Amino acid sequence: LLYNQAFKSVGFDGVYVHLLVDDITKFLRTYSSPDFVGFSCTIPHKEAALGCLDEIDPVAKSIGAVNCIIRSPSDGKLSGYNTDYFGAISAIEDGLQSPLAGKLFVVIGAGGAGKALAYGAKEKGARIVIANRTYERARELAEIVGARALSLAELDTFHPEDGMILANSTSIGMQPKVDETPIPKKALSNYSLVFDAVYTPKLTRLLREAEECGATVVSGLEMFIRQAYEQYERFTGLPAPKELFR
Ligand SMILES: NC(=O)c1ccc[n+]([C@@H]2O[C@H](COP(=O)([O-])OP(=O)(O)OC[C@H]3O[C@@H](n4cnc5c(N)ncnc54)[C@H](OP(=O)(O)O)[C@@H]3O)[C@@H](O)[C@H]2O)c1
Repeated sequence: LLYNQAFKSVGFDGVYVHLLVDDITKFLRTYSSPDFVGFSCTIPHKEAALGCLDEIDPVAKSIGAVNCIIRSPSDGKLSGYNTDYFGAISAIEDGLQSPLAGKLFVVIGAGGAGKALAYGAKEKGARIVIANRTYERARELAEIVGARALSLAELDTFHPEDGMILANSTSIGMQPKVDETPIPKKALSNYSLVFDAVYTPKLTRLLREAEECGATVVSGLEMFIRQAYEQYERFTGLPAPKELFR
């Protein structure tokens, strides 16, 4: 396991274990021993976990989802964070080699990952557009983050300016349906950078076609790795040995 190798490399006295949880509220009440420094929290518990916490990071609260829970060693209080948004946005900014501020940032999808991307980009001062299969969900998220909403069909001809950034946060193109893509190739030449939250496969059809159109591409694997080392740093209070996460 990624975390255990990293713990070992710095002599951190801890172990990361997988636990299959049905009821997050009961789980956190039962597993309350001070031996637990924290918990990673994944689908389907990211939203329900919010109701079990003593403190929630403001961005995680806005997103409405946490994926990392830290237990205070002094009083046992639980604090929740969302490292998904940090992982995605830092990967995109590194790919761009410049800050997101002022850029036109188009998010496809309005689920958990879509919200993390939209809030993260908003924090960075980007101008945001949300396109989603269910238009109503795009509109709701757009209203909250001060964005424009589009239907998926509108995205095909959406070209208000050059050099836009595209972030797919739907599962389109994920294994086994690797031949699917959320946007036609001809629309990709309007983007300078394309990010795909999907990380199986690493190079999705969307990223392959974006590369062929001359865009910089950033894989969901990069987001996955970065959200993990942000969690590592919160668990241990130590800088992550980043090379071990790759
Ligand atoms: N790289 C990472 O670290 C990382 C982290 C988190 C998630 N992800 C990936 O991100 C993806 C989404 O995860 P999530 O947690 O956001 O899921 P989610 O909350 O269930 O949201 C799914 C989104 O995808 C849209 N969608 C699903 N199937 C579609 C289809 N066939 N056509 C058009 N739109 C479709 C949904 O649209 P509707 O609103 O119309 O249903 C919704 O906007 C997954 O592939 C997941 O593996 C990656």
